Amino acid sequence: MTRIPVILDGDPGHDDAIAWVFAKAYEDLFDIRAVVSVSGNQTIDKTTWNARRIATLLGIDAPVAKGAVKPLLEPVMTAGNWHGESGLDGPVMPEPDQPLFEGTGVELMAKVLRESEEPVTIISTGPLTNVAQLLMLYPELKEKIGQISIMGGGITYGNWTMAAEFNIVEDPEAAWLVFHSGIRLFVSALNVTEQALIRPEDIPRIKAVGNQVAQVTGEWVEFFIQYPMAIGYEGAPVHDPCAVLMLAKPDLFKTKDLYVDIELEGEYTRGMTVADFRSWGEHEPNCTCAMEIDQKRYIDLLCEALHAYDGRVVNL
Ligand code: RIB
Ligand code: CA
Repeated sequence: MTRIPVILDGDPGHDDAIAWVFAKAYEDLFDIRAVVSVSGNQTIDKTTWNARRIATLLGIDAPVAKGAVKPLLEPVMTAGNWHGESGLDGPVMPEPDQPLFEGTGVELMAKVLRESEEPVTIISTGPLTNVAQLLMLYPELKEKIGQISIMGGGITYGNWTMAAEFNIVEDPEAAWLVFHSGIRLFVSALNVTEQALIRPEDIPRIKAVGNQVAQVTGEWVEFFIQYPMAIGYEGAPVHDPCAVLMLAKPDLFKTKDLYVDIELEGEYTRGMTVADFRSWGEHEPNCTCAMEIDQKRYIDLLCEALHAYDGRVVNL
């Protein structure tokens, strides 16, 4: 199978980190060309530091760049209640084993697109600021983006507000540009990602995979599970891996092609993903949305992916 060039774009963040565990494990499919941070779960310096350490832990042999400092218009909103002060609280992590890319995140993304002979896939698990900047600053490179798989949106409800999901409401203008770009989009929104639940009883099974990455992943979940369970979830909604699995394991999901637009106005609705479920709607679908996930297989796939790291040990 031909490997597809991939840019990982996220705001690590525990679930971004676990998404990248999957992405690196699927190296027969994904050729990771770059990792780019964005502000979101925490401020940009924290998400960048976390991205560099995750890349070191997993052995991602690609440049890591510091992406957007803030959304296009809004100030940064962070989610320390979910991810802690560092943005990746919990286990000890290695020091980065490579220097930060000397340019900006969007410059690295453009470099990867320019140099790739094949269309490049972007897997975005944070606010879409980097992708929006890429489209605005390098319109001539848009055709080199083959597809974007996004964790974002609620489709029918929100988590950060009643109507809006965190990644989208953090930078609604960026999301609007991406959803109006005409690029092939795969969307994993809350209606599915909150089914991607890791429960307390799953943690021993994750750690029992028995390698260093599995131990760290189990400890990430042990931290990340605390806040959601305190507010009523039955476990940790590990959202971001869905954006990887929509490409790598599409049979894990039931999907629906929908027209989705981004609400930019409204005291209660700014950042809402508005989906048209009408068969007689006036718009052609602009994305493939995950609608259901095989929740049991999700944990099976995580444990299977973690075995890809058997024998890998880094200094912590
Ligand atoms: O709403 C969930 C999303 O916001 C996830 O990507 C999480 O990491 C945060 O970025
Ligand atoms: Ca994220």
